[in-house]
Amino acid sequence: MTNTITIAVSKGRIFKDALPLLAASGIVPIDDPVTSRKLVLDTNQDDVKLVIIRASDVPTYVEYGAADMGITGKDVLLEYEGEGLYEPLDLEIARCRLMLAGPPAAARGQTRLRIATKYVKCTRRYFAEQGKQVEIIKLYGSMELAPLVRLADLIVDVVDTGNTLKANGLEPLEHIADISSRLIVNKASMKMKHARVNAFVRSMAEAVAQRRAGAQSQ
Ligand code: ATP
Ligand code: PRP
Repeated sequence: MTNTITIAVSKGRIFKDALPLLAASGIVPIDDPVTSRKLVLDTNQDDVKLVIIRASDVPTYVEYGAADMGITGKDVLLEYEGEGLYEPLDLEIARCRLMLAGPPAAARGQTRLRIATKYVKCTRRYFAEQGKQVEIIKLYGSMELAPLVRLADLIVDVVDTGNTLKANGLEPLEHIADISSRLIVNKASMKMKHARVNAFVRSMAEAVAQRRAGAQSQ
């Protein structure tokens, strides 16, 4: 292990929300993250690199130590079920809810429901806890389409405003979990790069608190 700190950040909406928190912690990418085709971004700090990858790949990079830390959604972490990760900080960004949803009457009068989702493990756990047998169909996106074309009775997906459900004639039915983005840390990095990692966790915690204070005063 070198003294460089590598932080894996989910691309897409999490990256957009994470950038101001990173900046408040003193980390600013040098390469333009929007236009650059580089996957390892240099930052204003020589010993800090950012890797910008798919949300669902972040825990893998961090668990295997390819990145020391990462930023990804709690939905991804619930689905990942990894063992080699610490989760020291809720970043309070990209907030949404993991929900069971479907057409208004779909949940009634069915013996064995078919559920379309990219959250297969979460969905299996959720129904197993209720002693219910369901058939789960794995999808990679646009879950809302599945009930419309009778691929599934219901879906499990993240919901924020509810606009996507509404636009497709679907309703939120059951709340499964509150979701926000989390800072995760590789267990070996936590030991071997303790001072550096802890300083970063502390500065990110301050950035989150400042952001929260700013939001409350508006
Ligand atoms: P991938 O490209 O790996 O399939 P994705 O399409 O889910 O990922 P994003 O849409 O950027 O990527 O979502 C990343 C994370 O943002 C999700 O894992 C979740 O934690 C959160 N998220 C997803 N949708 C919303 C939303 N509508 N509002 C707020 N947060 C959301
Ligand atoms: C996410 C999610 C829902 C939508 C919910 O999709 O999968 O479809 O947001 O947000 P809402 O409740 O505010 O409408 P996203 O926009 O990320 O598109 P995706 O299918 O590419 O993941």
